[in-house]
Amino acid sequence: MTLPYNFSPGPAMLPPEVLQQIRDDLPEWKWKGVGQGASIMEVSHRGKAFEALIAEAEQDLRDLLAIPQNYRVLFMQGGAWGQFAMVPMNLLRAGETADYLVSGGWSKSAFEEAQKFGSTHLIASGESGGYKQIPNQRDWTRSASPSYTYVCSNETVYGNEIHHLPTGLNSPLIVDASSHFLSRPMDVSACGLIYAGAQKNVGPAGVTMVIVRDDLLDRAPNSIASVFHYKHMAANKSLFNTPPVFAIYVTALTLKWIKAQGGLAEMERRATARSSMLYDAIDTSALFTAPVSKADRSRMNVVFDSGNVETDAKFVAFCEVRGLMSLKGHRVRGGMRASIYNAMPIAGVEALVAAMREFEASF
Ligand SMILES: Cc1ncc(COP(=O)(O)O)c(C=O)c1O
Repeated sequence: MTLPYNFSPGPAMLPPEVLQQIRDDLPEWKWKGVGQGASIMEVSHRGKAFEALIAEAEQDLRDLLAIPQNYRVLFMQGGAWGQFAMVPMNLLRAGETADYLVSGGWSKSAFEEAQKFGSTHLIASGESGGYKQIPNQRDWTRSASPSYTYVCSNETVYGNEIHHLPTGLNSPLIVDASSHFLSRPMDVSACGLIYAGAQKNVGPAGVTMVIVRDDLLDRAPNSIASVFHYKHMAANKSLFNTPPVFAIYVTALTLKWIKAQGGLAEMERRATARSSMLYDAIDTSALFTAPVSKADRSRMNVVFDSGNVETDAKFVAFCEVRGLMSLKGHRVRGGMRASIYNAMPIAGVEALVAAMREFEASF
C-alpha cells in the first residue's frame, strides 16, 4: 500500500519499518525473541523486559549522540512545555537570573513560562523581524552571571535553525532541540542540558528526552515535586513512577532504526538533501518565497508562502488531493510549512516539488 506523504510538524511521520514492527508486536510483545504474554501496553514497567528495553534505549541514544559519561539521560513526561517549567524549577537558583534568546514562538513561550519561577533576562529577540533571522551572538546583551543561557535550536513554527550552537558562554547552555533532535550530530559536551519531545524525529507524543550534566542535578531544591525533579528521576533511572511505556517502546525502535540507517551523519546527509531540494525549488519559483534568511533556514521545517492567503489555501488543497498532507502553516504564521523530519523519504520532497511546479504552471 502506498501511503500519502505526511508533512505534519508533529506528531509526525514515523519510519515504515518502525510502524511494521509495532504492528508485528501488537498482539504480543517479544523482547529479544521471548514473548512477554501481553502487548507492550499491558506489561509492567517494573518487569525485567521493560527495564532492559529502557536501558538499551538509553544506550542507543548515548551511542548516537556520543553522550559523555558525566551526563544523565532521562525519559520524562509533560512534553516540551513541561521542560519550559522544569528547567527553571531545577536550575534557576534563588537570587540569580536566567538568560533567554527568543528566536521564535517556542523560545518566547519558554521565556514567558520561566518568569513564573524566577528572574529572567532577554538577551536578544528576533520577533520584530518576524523571526526571519536568528539574532547574532555578537549582538546579545547578556547578564553578568546567569544561572543558565537558554536557546531553542530549531523553531518549528517560523522555520529557523541554529546551525552552530553558541560558544564562550559564562553559564550552562540549555537547548530545546525538540524539532531537530537526532537529525544531525550535536556536541553534547557544549551543553548543560538538552531536551526534546519525541514526537517529531524520534517517536510518538508522550515522552521527552532530557540529557543533563551531572553537576547541574544538585541545584534543585527538595521542595520540587518528585516527578519534576531531575536528580530524583535520574536516581530512579526514569522509573520512579509509571513511565509512558508505549512511547518509550516506539522511541526505542526508532533509535534502532536511526542506527541501522547509518546514524546521525546519515540523518544529516538526508536532511541536507531534502531541504536543499525544497529550498532550491522555492527560490527558483515565480510564485513561492521562503522568508527565512538562507544562513538560518531550518532543515526540518521549511516555511514558504505565495504572499496571498487564498492562493496558499488553494495550494494546500491542491497538495492534499495528491496525497501531500498537512502542509498548512501554523495558525500564528499562516502560509505553508513542510516538515521533513528523519522519516520523510526524498521521494516525498520530489513529489512536493512536482506539485509546486504543476500548480505554478496552472496558475
Ligand atoms: C521546538 C518546540 N518546542 C516546544 C514545543 C512544545 O511541545 P509540547 O506540545 O510537546 O509541549 C514544540 C511543539 O511543537 C516545539 O516544536
